[in-house]
Amino acid sequence: MAGDVNVQGEEVKKLDVLANDLFINMLSSSYTTCLLVSEENKTVIEVEKDRQGKYVVCFDPLDGSSNIDCLVSIGSIFSIYSKKSTATDPNVNDALQPGNQIVAAGYALYGSATMMVISTGNGVNGFMLDPSIGEFVLTDPNMTIKERGKIYSLNEGYANLWDPAVSEYVKGKKEKKAGARYIGSMVADVHRTIKYGGIFMYPATADAPKGKLRLLYECNPMAFLVQQAGGKATTGKMPILDIMPTDIHQRTPIFLGSAGDVQDIIDLYKKHG
Ligand code: AHG
Ligand code: MN
Ligand code: MN
Ligand code: MN
Repeated sequence: MAGDVNVQGEEVKKLDVLANDLFINMLSSSYTTCLLVSEENKTVIEVEKDRQGKYVVCFDPLDGSSNIDCLVSIGSIFSIYSKKSTATDPNVNDALQPGNQIVAAGYALYGSATMMVISTGNGVNGFMLDPSIGEFVLTDPNMTIKERGKIYSLNEGYANLWDPAVSEYVKGKKEKKAGARYIGSMVADVHRTIKYGGIFMYPATADAPKGKLRLLYECNPMAFLVQQAGGKATTGKMPILDIMPTDIHQRTPIFLGSAGDVQDIIDLYKKHG
């Protein structure tokens, strides 16, 4: 809450609270959803009975909040499941499905252009907003990620907390003079990885053994998209999409991007056990 009151007498809200309200209102009024999981809500959100549909949506309404005030690209991320339990009302178990049950996922990137990147399980397509006609135009059909790329991306401030596999991997990248890029908004780092190739990493650290990124509304949707684009997404020890969730806000380490680059870190985890 910024503490100000705007011309309509509304409280001025932080962008991620505003984005969250918008996502919840739009999804509920679409009459297609029954259960929502948001980064900003502690518990699942059950849509009112008379507005329920068959889909469960997990979303990060505004990703990269730390970058808002310095005007660096931010985004939104979502994944969509079909409600499994038939007879009963929707419950939290409908949201605790593994990523390999996703029916559709995508992100919006608010950068030098506004782009929607989505997949319904048959490849990945990118739609850029054309403000002059107010429509999203298919500018990036069938997005595919190349087998290897020159860029590696992670927060090197935590280097002293990495496990041996990550330290060895990054050391190897530096020896090959690979390009280092880290934006700190997952949507922007993942979009660059799909467009240019390479690897994005948010590993576990000594003080955060599950890493930082959340499984349901950051890692699963991004893993689904990257795999649909021909890349890989792993915890280092197993595919992200095979994780059986137990908590709607649980975190997981993640390595995603060009299949060959991600395979290298998988091999290093095997080597270090
Ligand atoms: P959010 O703003 O939705 O909480 O997500 C922030 C995440 C993600 O966007 C990014 O990859 C990561 O935080 C950056 O974390 P560090 O600042 O620890 O590198
Ligand atoms: Mn986020
Ligand atoms: Mn967020
Ligand atoms: Mn947040």
